[in-house]
Amino acid sequence: MSQKVTFPEDFWWGAAMSGPQMEGTFEKPHENVMDYWYKTSKEEFFNGVGPTVATDFFHHYKEDIKMMKSIGMNSFRTSIQWSRLIKDLETGEPDENAVKFYQDVIDECKKNDIILVLNLHHFDLPIELFQKYGGWESKHVVDLYAKFAKTAFELFGDQVHYWTTFNEPMVIPEAGYLCGFHYPKYVNKGKEAMQVIYNLNLASAKAIALCHEICDAKIGNILNLTPAYPATDSKEDQETSKIVDAFYNRSFLEPAVHGVFPQEMIDIMKENDVLWDQNEEELEIIKNNTIDFLGVNYYHPKRVKTRTTPLDYDYWSPEQYYEEYDMPGKRVNPYRGWEIYPKAIYDIAKNVQENYNNIPWFISENGMGVEGEERYINEEGKIEDDYRIDFYEEHLQLLAKAMEEGSNCFGYHAWTGIDCWSWNNAYKNRYGFIALDLETQKRTVKKSGEWLKKVTEEHGYIAKDSYQ
Ligand code: BG6
Repeated sequence: MSQKVTFPEDFWWGAAMSGPQMEGTFEKPHENVMDYWYKTSKEEFFNGVGPTVATDFFHHYKEDIKMMKSIGMNSFRTSIQWSRLIKDLETGEPDENAVKFYQDVIDECKKNDIILVLNLHHFDLPIELFQKYGGWESKHVVDLYAKFAKTAFELFGDQVHYWTTFNEPMVIPEAGYLCGFHYPKYVNKGKEAMQVIYNLNLASAKAIALCHEICDAKIGNILNLTPAYPATDSKEDQETSKIVDAFYNRSFLEPAVHGVFPQEMIDIMKENDVLWDQNEEELEIIKNNTIDFLGVNYYHPKRVKTRTTPLDYDYWSPEQYYEEYDMPGKRVNPYRGWEIYPKAIYDIAKNVQENYNNIPWFISENGMGVEGEERYINEEGKIEDDYRIDFYEEHLQLLAKAMEEGSNCFGYHAWTGIDCWSWNNAYKNRYGFIALDLETQKRTVKKSGEWLKKVTEEHGYIAKDSYQ
């Protein structure tokens, strides 16, 4: 029996994008870590494509915002690039060209009646701050970020009503200091990774304090929540999943909502002599400046089991407490290698409802990257991405279920609006509602873009199936 999946009339429908993945590097006064990584190691990027032109939002923002509106988006997130907005990184003095550009983007969103969410950091630390001070390991960098945030609030805080301090802050220590996926590509810096976690939480709290002082706006943080599911019901695996959850999810979620860090994480760090440098004054700042709303990026779960295979290295890392569990029969997106598990969206929603004050929250990213989408172009030139529509519908159905049960979710943003540059995967996997032709920069709405329009007009859709 077909079932209508419904959402409130004022629900946010939209997509997220980010400055470094969209704008192109035109007229930027500084390079960020990604620009620098590309400049120095082009061969590490899919087909050698970098962020230089990207989706050229810098020149196309007017038509892009209009096009996003035309597919039903009533809201949209992008990020202000620190390396673009700020001319003098030490004082926070802005760059005039950048002020004009971001002002134009804000005006264009207003003109199109699109709620704009402005994020302040999307993996894009100015490289000078890494080279001079050691990047997010440094508390001076925390203060420079606060100056950047202050400048942004002073310039635009009366016009933008929703801000976020970071996108997926956990990726910075995880990909940059533990797994080597992102610049600086360290793999053996467990202690430093812990300091980065602390400093990012402190930076977020400082920006929240400034936002509340300077503007009449709401501010949140966007966390990539990867629920840690134990491989078995055994006591050991259950305990392991709690530790993983503490390090990878609650290390940001607890301070963001409750103003404190998970105790089991602190205990483990103390036992291993890897506790970060902290002081009472900073802990007070974290405690007193929590978020107004939460953004959740959800792509895949984390399945874990208690470690039985010894590690082949001797430095400290949270990896020593668990192993990834490759669950037989799991569904996988083969292009990205990530498990597809819509039920986790329900679990996240219930967790936020039950353990995090049922804080207002939204899905700030969810999506499916697919390689070679040209295969699906029909005679009219449109990509028929039914797999993406199915992906969204499955996830939305589980989200709607949690909302019916009281979870305080106010929106759903997909990743992404227009195909954009995905770090070292560059343009390998496409995620957009709107396709980008890299040669011509032509934009074409995909079938999923038309689907979105219909869903937003009807405040829901008829489910093909009942997903659990
Ligand atoms: C999220 C990021 O982790 O996932 C985006 O916020 C990113 O910046 C998206 O592009 C998809 O991941 P990827 O690695 O395929 O680009």
